[in-house]
Amino acid sequence: GDNRKLLPRAPIVTIMGHVDHGKTSLLDYIRKTRVAAGEAGGITQHIGAYQVKTDHGAVTFLDTPGHAAFTAMRARGAEVTDIVIVVVAADDGVMPQTREAIDHARAANVPIIVALNKIDKKEANPDKVMQELATLNVVPEEWGGDVQFLKVSAKSGEGIDELIEALIVQAEVLELKAPAEGIASGICIESRLDKGRGAVATILIQKGTLSKGEFVLCGHEYGRIRAMFDENAHAIKSAGPSAPVEILGLSSTPDAGDEFLVVQNERIARELAAHREDRKRSTRHAAQHAAKLDDVFS
Ligand code: GTP
Ligand code: NA
Ligand code: MG
Repeated sequence: GDNRKLLPRAPIVTIMGHVDHGKTSLLDYIRKTRVAAGEAGGITQHIGAYQVKTDHGAVTFLDTPGHAAFTAMRARGAEVTDIVIVVVAADDGVMPQTREAIDHARAANVPIIVALNKIDKKEANPDKVMQELATLNVVPEEWGGDVQFLKVSAKSGEGIDELIEALIVQAEVLELKAPAEGIASGICIESRLDKGRGAVATILIQKGTLSKGEFVLCGHEYGRIRAMFDENAHAIKSAGPSAPVEILGLSSTPDAGDEFLVVQNERIARELAAHREDRKRSTRHAAQHAAKLDDVFS
């Protein structure tokens, strides 16, 4: 077992909802930067991970794409998260990926906070959206339910302080803790191959402290951490629980959702990676075999 001392950690909050309902803009406003404007066509393609300092401590946010094609990413986001913010544009209402976000949060047994966004628009009809959500059993507190609803505008900033307050209150209820010392472990959020820097992985540390120079195994990739960066691309030497960091030095790109773990040395990393690869291959063979049987019997 893990006998390490548990310390309070920052909540991990995933922002989900239908395409263009304002997830990135909302996070943008919170971060006071311009992420959505810099995205290709304003469509989020991947999960962005950011840690934000508030008056009540740090909060880690994961942005997710609302596009229908990214179901798996949203499911993963819900799994690593403590709280899901479901963003619904108040001028548009409940849409397919709104429902899907609610389903993912429920499947992962994660509390939901609803942000009724675009409240600044004259077409906004928050009462109608509240009714739509209530029929999905997402019932506002003011109607006797147990879900906090906040009316917000990512454009004007209205309601965003209240949204953060709601988050903090919800996080306090959860009493989130993790060991802050010792061997780091966590999960890969996304990865890419960079021409100059090689494999770049964004990982979320869940336990322990990760330091530059350590050997890590991530999925079936491994390597020594050559460099590590925070979400603002600042080089850092170490990071602890709930921190999203970018690491360089892996042999190749791990898959989103892969677990990572610090190991003693390269030999152990390589052996464990090979073992995981074998296991993956044998499950793949089993799946192919099962698919063939299905073909035969259907
Ligand atoms: P995907 O990542 O593609 O799913 O979209 P998203 O949910 O991140 O939405 P995004 O932040 O890209 O915003 C979509 C559009 O809505 C942009 O043109 C934003 O400027 C606009 N928008 C977002 N929030 C608000 C708001 O509160 N009010 C108004 N008027 N427009 C908003
Ligand atoms: Na968008
Ligand atoms: Mg987005």
